[in-house]
Amino acid sequence: MNDSILDVIESDTSAEAGAEIVALVSEYFAATRDGKGRVTTALTAEQISQRFDEPLPRGGMSMAAIATRLRSDVMSDANRLYHPMYMGHQVAPPLPASVWTDSLISAMNQSVAVWEMSPTATVIEHRVIRWMTELAGWGAESGGTLTSGGTEATFTALLAARNTIIPDAWTNGVGEKRPVVICGEHAHYAVSRALGQLGLGTASLRTVSSRAYRMDTDALALAIETAERSGTPVMAVIATSGSTATGSFDDIQTIGAMCGAHGIWLHVDGAHGASALLSETRAAGMRGLEYARSLAWDPHKGMLLPIAAGALLMRDERDLQRAFAQRAPYLFHENPGARAWDLGVESFQCSRRADVLKLWVALQRYGADGIGKVYDHLCDMTHAMYDAVTVSTQFEALHEPESNIFCFRHLGSGRMDAASVDRLNQDLRIRYNKSGKGWITLTVLDGRPVLRVTLMNHRTRVQHVHALLAGLADEAAALMASD
Ligand SMILES: Cc1ncc(COP(=O)(O)O)c(C=O)c1O
Repeated sequence: MNDSILDVIESDTSAEAGAEIVALVSEYFAATRDGKGRVTTALTAEQISQRFDEPLPRGGMSMAAIATRLRSDVMSDANRLYHPMYMGHQVAPPLPASVWTDSLISAMNQSVAVWEMSPTATVIEHRVIRWMTELAGWGAESGGTLTSGGTEATFTALLAARNTIIPDAWTNGVGEKRPVVICGEHAHYAVSRALGQLGLGTASLRTVSSRAYRMDTDALALAIETAERSGTPVMAVIATSGSTATGSFDDIQTIGAMCGAHGIWLHVDGAHGASALLSETRAAGMRGLEYARSLAWDPHKGMLLPIAAGALLMRDERDLQRAFAQRAPYLFHENPGARAWDLGVESFQCSRRADVLKLWVALQRYGADGIGKVYDHLCDMTHAMYDAVTVSTQFEALHEPESNIFCFRHLGSGRMDAASVDRLNQDLRIRYNKSGKGWITLTVLDGRPVLRVTLMNHRTRVQHVHALLAGLADEAAALMASD
């Protein structure tokens, strides 16, 4: 390459240069449309790493050559989330309008830390947060911030709760008398991690048991009573809706009433399930949000946005303002007009992408109702899988799905003990995923490994659900025959 690097960069601003990448994206969408080809790679991490075991490139290559390499070396063995047989983790095949918008977000590179760095995106984020708080049923005093996901949202909510219950914690630390936090046994690890990060210690977490995979509210009442009797303040209760393992919704209404009666901060981890608020028929799962002081909601899960798009909503925005307290005269100017729009004062990150634009574009393109219908489609397909499992003689359902997550197990030959059935299910998941026919996950429920699917793909239809069970049955038969 003889051109000076500055000319190269300039030539890359052309539509032709970008078209190399755009072509790959549409090629990917098309190649996964008919459900042909593998969902995941058959290679190991070591085999893939050999492909990239090369010296630092000192010079550059053409965009065309890079596109060729992306196709052959990267896309070839990437997980194909757009494949209708992808039913693995809670990561979406993202809505295409948002995918295309992602490069515009990068191109404009507006940091939403302060209004002066992102005159339009900052304002749009305020607008989108307002739409979301309205969906939560909250009033004009509510607010929030977009986050990198549910982990950051729950951390920030608990930071705000900590600063409320220990008002000088930001300056002087948490001191000797630590409050406790109570959550259900199926809460995401984001909760215990936050306690470690906040200096409260993971030992401050009280975990209550569940009934049918939802927090047992009698056990919660007992946990609150036990803490209060010992003179230990309860900093927050976390309701999980829906839970990572089974997509079950905690009873926010009962939990919230209890928190209200005891003056306890209720945080709802709706990272996975709050998108139900867009559904005409499933929003009831989130009933009781009027009791919550904070809500985590990940559009990059149930709204099918590309990572990263999470949100933390606060019923009273002043709670969020209490979470962080920084002085930075080089960034946060005491200009009262602009200051009202600055988002960095209320957010964990300083530089922050204008991810809100892909959310705003998705809402403009598909509408909140359209996205709600996609969420319903995912839940309907998950229920179709449950229906198929309940009439099958080979599988058993662990629960009736409340959203788009479902756990089940292969029953084995009928002559196998529980430990052998457990091993079969573990091996089955590995073998099935390796076959490339589909992709599912595994979790542990009641101490036993179970197969788990999360239906995130608008392309997944009933025939794919049946194909999954047929494929699993075939692989299980092969495993049992080889034993
Ligand atoms: C209930 C729940 N909370 C929090 C998270 C963490 O979200 P993120 O990965 O976006 O940080 C998850 C992700 O699986 C989740 O299911």
